Amino acid sequence: MKSYFSISVCLGTLVARCLAVTVTVSKTASHSVPSTLYGQMFEVHTTAALTAWHPINNAKLVVIADPNPVSNALPNSLQFSVPSGATGQVGFSNEGFWGINVNSSWTYNASFFFRFPTASGFSGALTVGLQTSSGKVLAQTSTQVHGSTTKWTQVNLKLRPTASASDVNNSFFVTIDGAAAAGQTINFALFSLFPPTFKNRPNGMRIDIAETLAEMGPAFFRFPGGNNLFFEDVGMEPIMAVWAGYSLGGTSLAENQLAPYIQQAKDQINFVIGNPAESAPAALRASLGHPEPFQLRFVEVGNEDFFAANTYTYRWNDFVSALQAEFPQIRFIATTDAWDPILSPVPQSYDVHVYQTPTWFFQNAFYYDDFQRNGTTYFEGEYAAISTNANDIFGTPADGRLTFPTMQSASGEAAFMTGLERNSDIVFAASYAPLLQHVNSTQWLLLCPDPGFDLIRLFSLNRGDQYLPSTLPTRGDTLHWSITRSSSSGQTFIKVANAGSSAESITFQLNQFGSVASAGTLQLLTGAETASNTPDAPETIVPKTSTIRTGKSFTYDAPAFSVSVITVTTH
Ligand SMILES: *[C@@H]1O[C@H](CO)[C@@H](O)[C@H](O)[C@H]1NC(C)=O
Ligand SMILES: *[C@@H]1O[C@H](CO)[C@@H](O)[C@H](O)[C@H]1NC(C)=O
Ligand SMILES: *[C@@H]1O[C@H](CO)[C@@H](O)[C@H](O)[C@H]1NC(C)=O
Ligand SMILES: *[C@@H]1O[C@H](CO)[C@@H](O)[C@H](O)[C@H]1NC(C)=O
Ligand SMILES: *[C@@H]1O[C@H](CO)[C@@H](O)[C@H](O)[C@H]1NC(C)=O
Repeated sequence: MKSYFSISVCLGTLVARCLAVTVTVSKTASHSVPSTLYGQMFEVHTTAALTAWHPINNAKLVVIADPNPVSNALPNSLQFSVPSGATGQVGFSNEGFWGINVNSSWTYNASFFFRFPTASGFSGALTVGLQTSSGKVLAQTSTQVHGSTTKWTQVNLKLRPTASASDVNNSFFVTIDGAAAAGQTINFALFSLFPPTFKNRPNGMRIDIAETLAEMGPAFFRFPGGNNLFFEDVGMEPIMAVWAGYSLGGTSLAENQLAPYIQQAKDQINFVIGNPAESAPAALRASLGHPEPFQLRFVEVGNEDFFAANTYTYRWNDFVSALQAEFPQIRFIATTDAWDPILSPVPQSYDVHVYQTPTWFFQNAFYYDDFQRNGTTYFEGEYAAISTNANDIFGTPADGRLTFPTMQSASGEAAFMTGLERNSDIVFAASYAPLLQHVNSTQWLLLCPDPGFDLIRLFSLNRGDQYLPSTLPTRGDTLHWSITRSSSSGQTFIKVANAGSSAESITFQLNQFGSVASAGTLQLLTGAETASNTPDAPETIVPKTSTIRTGKSFTYDAPAFSVSVITVTTH
C-alpha cells in the first residue's frame, strides 16, 4: 500500500502519488445532477417456431399459417394431430426458456387458445401440467373440450405443484387420451404460463428480477427494439427508441420507403402519451386500462445508427422533422457520433455507446470534460468493460473476454462514472448494458448481481442533486472521485474509484462547510482484480457498509480495485 508515510517506495514517477492526494471540496455546487442519471437497458431473445416444443407419444406437431388466426398479430398456430391407432396420453410439451422453475409455494396461471379446424363429435379432457425431465408430474389439471369448438376459445387454468422440482429442467405439457382422440386435429395459439409476478400484475415481471431492479433505484429504462414494459411499478421513466429504417447488421430503407415507419413511430409515441379522445393508439392504451399518459421526455431515433451513418442523414431528417412537428415537447436523441455525419435538424442529444477494456474506462474518465457546453446533451446509453484485450472488443471472443464482470472492470467503469457525474450538466443519463444477462448454467434461477450491478446501485442510490467541484483527479490515472450533495438532507456523497493494483490514500478537505459530521458511512465494493460473482459463488463481491471517521479534513485509504461511497452530513 502506498501511503503518506511510505516515502521509501517513492521512486521516479511514483513520487507524486506517494504524497497522499488531497482533494479540496467546494461548498457551492457547479451544476445540478439530473434525476435521470443511471438506469438500465433490457435485452430480449426470441426462438424459432418449434424450438422448445416436443411431441409426446408420437403426436404430430406442425406450425401452420392459420387461415383463421387467433389474431392478426399472431397469424400462426400450433397444429396438433393424434395419429390413428394411438393409445395412452398423446400431446406435446414445452421446455420453457432455459427451463421452468417449478415451486410448490406458487400457483401458476396457465392459459391458451384452441379450436378444432374441422368440427367433429369428439368430447374429452385435455390434461395440462408441469413435469420433470424424467416424466414425474408435479402439477396437473384438466379441462373438457368439444369437437364442435371451431372458434378460438381461451382456456385459463391454475396449476398448483404438489412438490418443487430439484432443477429447472422441467416442462409444461398438454395431453389428451390417444385412444379416444385418435384422428383428431386441434389448433392451439398464445400459450402462457405465469408464476406469481411483481405486484401481482397480470403478464407481469419475475419477482426476483423486478425486486433486484427496484432495489437499485433506477431512474429510467431504455427500450430499443420496441419493447413496451411497464416500468411504473419500479418508478422508472421510459426512454423510447423508435425504429428508423435500419436494423443492426441489415440494410437501410430508401427515403421513399420511410413513410409507414414514421407513422408507426407517431403511433408508438401516441400510444404512450397521446390523448385518447384524439388518437386511436392513445384510445387503445386507455382501453387497456391506462387512460393517463405515461411520462415520456426522450425518444431515440434508431439504435446504433453509426453503423449506417451514410443513410442516417435522410432518415434522421425525415423522422425528426415529422416527429418534432407533432411532439415539440420531446427531445429526440441521435444515435450516430456527434461529429459525423452532420445532421439536420441539429440533434439536441446523442446516445453514446462504449464497450471497452477496464483500462480504457479509467483512462477516459475525462471523456466529456472537453465537450462544448452549447445545449447539446449526451446519453451514455450502453457502456461496459467487456474484455481486458483491446483487440477483442468487437468480433469473435478471443483472449481477455470477461465471462463475468470483475472487480477490475467494475473499478474501471466506476472511474468513468465519476466523470459522468462531473459532466452531468451535459450527460443526462447513463445505462450499463446489458443489465440483465442470461447465465448459461444449470443454476440460472439464481439472480446473481455482479460487481457492475452493485456499482450502478451504489451510484444510483447515492446520488446528490448538486455536483460539488473539487480538486480534479489526474487525467489517465487509475484514481478518480466525484462529489455530490443532496441539498435537502445535506448528505454529501464522495465516490472514489480506484482501478489500480495498489491502495491509495486521499485526504478530503471539507473546510468550506460550516459543519461536517465527525462520522460518516462507507459503502465499499472491493475484491481481487479478477474476482467475479458467479452463479456458483454469487456473493464473492458484495458492498460492505461500515462507519468511518470523517470531519472537515480526513484521510481515506481506497483499497486496490475498489469503489467506495462515503456519505457524510455537511452543512
Ligand atoms: C419458491 O417460492 C418461495 C415463496 O415465494 C420463495 O421464497 C423461494 O425463493 C422460491 N424458490 C425458488 C427456487 O424460486
Ligand atoms: C434436460 O432433460 C432432457 C430430457 O431428459 C435432457 O436431454 C437434457 O440433457 C437435460 N438438460 C439438463 C441441463 O440437464
Ligand atoms: C393470475 O390470476 C390471478 C387471478 O386468478 C390474478 O390476480 C393474477 O394477477 C394472475 N397473474 C398473472 C401473472 O397473470
Ligand atoms: C455543440 O458542440 C458539439 C461539438 O462539441 C457539436 O457536435 C454540436 O452540434 C453542437 N451543438 C449545437 C446545438 O450547436
Ligand atoms: C452453454 O454455453 C456453452 C459455452 O458457452 C456452450 O458450449 C453450450 O452450447 C451452451 N449450451 C446451450 C444449451 O446452448
